[in-house]
Amino acid sequence: MKITGRTAVYGIIGYPVKHSLSPLMQTSAFQELGLDAVYVPFEVPPENLEDAVKGLRALSVRGFNVTVPHKEKVAQLVDYLTEDAEILGAVNTVKNEGGELTGYNTDAEGFLRSLIEEGVELEGKRALMFGAGGAARAVGYALLKGGVKFLNIVNRSFSKAKKMAEILGRRGNVLVYPLKEGTVEALLKDADIIVNTTSVGMKEGDPQLFDYSKIPSGITVVDIIYNPPQTPLLKAAKEKGCKTINGLGMLVHQGAVAFEIWTGKKAPVEKMKKVLEEELY
Ligand code: ATR
Repeated sequence: MKITGRTAVYGIIGYPVKHSLSPLMQTSAFQELGLDAVYVPFEVPPENLEDAVKGLRALSVRGFNVTVPHKEKVAQLVDYLTEDAEILGAVNTVKNEGGELTGYNTDAEGFLRSLIEEGVELEGKRALMFGAGGAARAVGYALLKGGVKFLNIVNRSFSKAKKMAEILGRRGNVLVYPLKEGTVEALLKDADIIVNTTSVGMKEGDPQLFDYSKIPSGITVVDIIYNPPQTPLLKAAKEKGCKTINGLGMLVHQGAVAFEIWTGKKAPVEKMKKVLEEELY
């Protein structure tokens, strides 16, 4: 592509940022639509975050994504927050309009779109979510927004689960449980959809999060991990005849929503997914 004085600059801030797939995905989207824009990585250590955000504003960078560990702090540094970003207390996308920064969170919407794409119906369903970290917060919020009737949350650290339920509990029926075999077994029996938001399954040789032989057949099982493409949880679920969904769709769609916020154009989702699949698998 030709970079000129008119080329719009976008980017991502994180620490580390080297492994981020967003530059590849967003650049391919700009190119697919023939937009005069570039997207670059900025590695920003926590002590430089405030200066970096001021710099991005001063340089008229049109928009940027925010990744670990800056999502919460950036929510304090922008001028405006959308409702989702405010509720989640975390920003993953910023739009710069004439020096005024608006913080968005596209993780929840991205997760929902990835389920819609797969034809998953949430209305009135009973969901069982594992994990209580940053990702869990967005996913739990999305499940409630999508209309689940009950959201049961299981986490190794029970205190962390309770803290998260205080926030999500305002939006629906949320109950929390510790990660114990008998407890999980009972919860599995009346779950319509299971979602793993923990990092268990990312590394080869990870132990099972719970006894996967107890997954009921025919339900929907989602793992937000995208690498490997099929975690042991998803593999076991598939063998039980469950509908299985990995985290690639969430990754693509959170990026697609960001792209749409910045450009006002429909994101080339298939192209974005394809470049990621080629890079990852
Ligand atoms: P993220 O932002 O990706 O959600 P995180 O905030 O570090 O990352 O959260 C990681 C989640 O994975 C947590 O729910 C964590 O459980 P704890 O709150 O008990 O730490 C969960 N997790 C990580 N390793 C785990 C393991 N070996 N067994 C069970 N849960 C695990």
